[in-house]
Amino acid sequence: MTASHTVKLLVAVVLSLPGLTDGFQPLFLFDGKSATHRDITRRAVLRKTAEVCRDMAASEGRHFSLTIDDSLTVDKVQRSCFSTSTFMSLLSSVRFQTSLLSMYFSNAEVDIVSALRKENHFDDESFLKGRDIITVGVSAVKASVKMKNFNTGRWTLGRVCHTLQDFYSHSNWVELGNIAPYSALIRPDQPLKNLAGPNTPTCGNCVGQNCGNNLLPEVLQQRLLTSGYFNIFSSSKPAGKCSHGGSFDWTSKQNPVGGINKDDAGSSHGSLHHKAADLAVNATMELLEDVRIAVGDKNFLRLMGLSQSSVPYFVTDTTSSMSDIIAEARGISFDVIDSRRETHEEPTAYILAPFNDPGFGPPTNADVFKNNLNKFFENGRGDIPELSLTGLQLALTAVPPSSEIFVFTDAPAKDAHLKSTITALLESTKSVVTFMLTDALASRWHHRSFKGHMSKSDVQLYHDLAEASGGQAIEVTKSTFSLATTVIQDSSASTKVTLFQEVRNPGKPHIFTFTVDGSLRNMIAYITGASSLTFSLTSSRGVSQSSSQPNGPLASYSTAGSLRRLSLNTENQTGLWQISVNSKNPYSIKVTAQSSLNFIHNLVEALEGGHTDFSLKEGRPLSGGNVTLLVSVTGSDTVKLREVTLFDGSGPTEVAGSLQSVGSGNFLVTFSEVPAGKFVVRVRGEDNSSTFQRQASTQIKTSSISLTAQASNTNIEPGSTISIPFIVAATTNGVINTNATGTFTMRINSDRNYTSTSPSTVTIEAGSGGKANGTVTLTVPAGAASGADVTLTIEAENAAATDINYVVLRFSVTAKVTDVTRPVCQVVSTSTSCPSSSSFCASSQWKFIANLTDGINGTGIERVTIRQGLGTLSTSTVAGAGGEIVTVVTYSASCCSQVVELAAVDGVGNVGVCVGRAQQSAIGAAVTTAVVNTTSNRGQILTSSFCLWISVVTFLLWTHINTINIF
Ligand SMILES: *[C@@H]1O[C@H](CO)[C@@H](O)[C@H](O)[C@H]1NC(C)=O
Ligand SMILES: *[C@@H]1O[C@H](CO)[C@@H](O)[C@H](O)[C@H]1NC(C)=O
Ligand SMILES: *[C@@H]1O[C@H](CO)[C@@H](O)[C@H](O)[C@H]1NC(C)=O
Ligand SMILES: *[C@@H]1O[C@H](CO)[C@@H](O)[C@H](O)[C@H]1NC(C)=O
Repeated sequence: MTASHTVKLLVAVVLSLPGLTDGFQPLFLFDGKSATHRDITRRAVLRKTAEVCRDMAASEGRHFSLTIDDSLTVDKVQRSCFSTSTFMSLLSSVRFQTSLLSMYFSNAEVDIVSALRKENHFDDESFLKGRDIITVGVSAVKASVKMKNFNTGRWTLGRVCHTLQDFYSHSNWVELGNIAPYSALIRPDQPLKNLAGPNTPTCGNCVGQNCGNNLLPEVLQQRLLTSGYFNIFSSSKPAGKCSHGGSFDWTSKQNPVGGINKDDAGSSHGSLHHKAADLAVNATMELLEDVRIAVGDKNFLRLMGLSQSSVPYFVTDTTSSMSDIIAEARGISFDVIDSRRETHEEPTAYILAPFNDPGFGPPTNADVFKNNLNKFFENGRGDIPELSLTGLQLALTAVPPSSEIFVFTDAPAKDAHLKSTITALLESTKSVVTFMLTDALASRWHHRSFKGHMSKSDVQLYHDLAEASGGQAIEVTKSTFSLATTVIQDSSASTKVTLFQEVRNPGKPHIFTFTVDGSLRNMIAYITGASSLTFSLTSSRGVSQSSSQPNGPLASYSTAGSLRRLSLNTENQTGLWQISVNSKNPYSIKVTAQSSLNFIHNLVEALEGGHTDFSLKEGRPLSGGNVTLLVSVTGSDTVKLREVTLFDGSGPTEVAGSLQSVGSGNFLVTFSEVPAGKFVVRVRGEDNSSTFQRQASTQIKTSSISLTAQASNTNIEPGSTISIPFIVAATTNGVINTNATGTFTMRINSDRNYTSTSPSTVTIEAGSGGKANGTVTLTVPAGAASGADVTLTIEAENAAATDINYVVLRFSVTAKVTDVTRPVCQVVSTSTSCPSSSSFCASSQWKFIANLTDGINGTGIERVTIRQGLGTLSTSTVAGAGGEIVTVVTYSASCCSQVVELAAVDGVGNVGVCVGRAQQSAIGAAVTTAVVNTTSNRGQILTSSFCLWISVVTFLLWTHINTINIF
């Protein structure tokens, strides 16, 4: 059988184991007294997430003790959400923290990409357009979650929150005395009332520096809503209108002078800054609650990154002659899947990515995944070329950041041209890829043609990619297959941390020292290298063991080909350990363990314009320039970070950065010099008076090419084309060299077969200031599903092909939502009265019947859930008088549970909430009162006092949540 008749499967193991600003400051503010978008988002997300966990605990009868207030931390919420699982003594909050960070970064990005678009900030009284940004964005988030595209959903959510939060700083909502969020901003079906007309003056001049009373009295009396005008180029604004205020806003220098913004404590209306920020927190929670009801609690927690997820994977060969391996591989993967079912370790999704299968994805659940896996194992598929990198690309764009991916292959990659794209995606997602190379096996055992046999350079490609990501390339033979799969199990632990990883090429003897801290469990060392390699271990208490002892006091080890796996016994031996490796051939060493204590790092760059804020830096840092990292410690609220370094193993050289705490376990770390080649981030610190060290998996490389590309909108409608302008520049010592000239090769790659265009090269001409511009376009097919996402990688390479930089952009396909109305509820009847005395409640039942409809033009009701009430729900559908589909819900409950609250969600995630109460009677007496008085009024539409047609009901403590799929 030739290689072309084999089937390669890739199974991604999703591991659980991370300017001119106008608005609240995006991420950091060093005045120590003002709230940023980051603070507001953090408070809202932590509180809402804790509420969801509390409600889920209540519905499952679990204890939940966390107090929900602003003292919540990522780790407190993470722990309390999983407190019942005894096996989870170790918990990783890397994914939760990473998700929060991505929401902060996308929120902050609005100030860069859309800095001057008034509707993104509710400037210039752009209330309707601003509301559109929010409601269109919320629909996009719901569509993304429906398609299980949590990464893009999160990214969109961060952007939407920015606009919503800005409303409270930029409008006079707070000045009007409001103490609750403006709910109409997340309700496209509601009118925005009392907007100040275009010709209505709203402000008078400020008195000197004092802008406390600049809103006109009639505006306050008539409760007219207005917002400040803002312009950094021109001072013109409509007569009599308020300005935003501040030194960048020219309009505030013309009458009426001064402004009304509450961006920070020192702003024009800075005395109201905290009121505005607090309202922005509550408004963000209201928006999150709307998303929560639409997507359900489990999906909401996954959107927030709060699941311990993961595991599923591989790539293998399905020829019958490999059946032993297939059986074992399948057995192991099924074991891992089943052992995590219904636990918090259950992955967000399982992804099976057969090489070059256009039908790949979307991510599926465990059962579908197992079925697919069986199909792939049982029905060999012919003529699939070995597009292993294409399969990997698909996996990388679909998995959560910091995932572990395993690729099984026995053939060279025929799509090696994707190497730089894969490297970019590995760097950008910080995912780890491990290649299981079964080449030796395939050729030796099955007498297949040597077509598939890998040359040294073929193998090197896999080694390079593995090394760049912090993974390994393991050559597997039949006899060592089971050890190789043990590596999968090691790596798929949700709390895996790396202590250090180094490659020595060329090989020379070296003594590696590392610190073992008290939080570590299951420490494993991997050493790969020639069979002549020897090593010895010395523990902190001076105990030693050499490689001639497979089972000794410090480790037991086994060997699979070039791989040695040492399971270390570190009990009562915290402190400094040594591994001395003796080899003249190249080798690598990696020490991992399980621990809650870990860290995340992100490259950030200072915003231009004199502000002391930062934004996420896409792509590689500039050679010779400064590097700033945002380092976030996870797993402990008490940890002291002592040192963050950039380590380059080739020297080896290690440079230390200067640390600045920015709160909540986050540190800005600035490096004024950076190692020249590739390097990794290492941290050292103390927790509970124990010293610890950790290393990031992903390597960082620098580039002398500056590539910037920004899309003005990340939501694209099916059938439309988006243009993404980019700028390429050559840099010297981290700054653009305005004298440089040169030609750069451009490559763009998307993970979908969507049409895209790009110049194949761009040239920096003399006299152009050292920059060249171009435009990439991306066209989304008319038939693309709403909620689908597409990842675009744009690369620029120098003429000598020695240097590359890239930008990774993610877009979400968002169809125009025409159904903006919420499902409507008509209560049909509330039958049977309940005794008013609770001591008799258990013996009586009551029933509530209602008709729910999404109207004739609606997308239809998809789901009805019980948000409060301990009864049972049944549904049926009938055709209504106007041809609409009516969902008849019948709820019955014991009289011990006398209130029911139902949520109906339509096809695009509009939520309608319906409340009913049992009628009460004195014992033995006739029915006298009914809270829902509809028994004799069939079909009466409930007034708002009975049926809450609001998106959010935050304050009810519901005790039972039940989901019914109507279709
Ligand atoms: C925000 O909501 C909380 C309840 O979740 C409430 O106690 C608080 O007063 C609200 N804050 C504002 C500013 O409305
Ligand atoms: C570690 O220390 C504890 C407490 O001192 C002791 O009970 C345990 O036996 C020790 N374990 C080993 C392997 O020495
Ligand atoms: C790097 O940082 C130093 C010190 O903060 C500063 O003087 C220098 O201008 C920075 N260089 C670049 C390229 O940003
Ligand atoms: C660019 O060229 C000018 C004139 O030759 C020189 O003065 C300047 O230092 C050069 N700039 C850089 C960044 O090399």
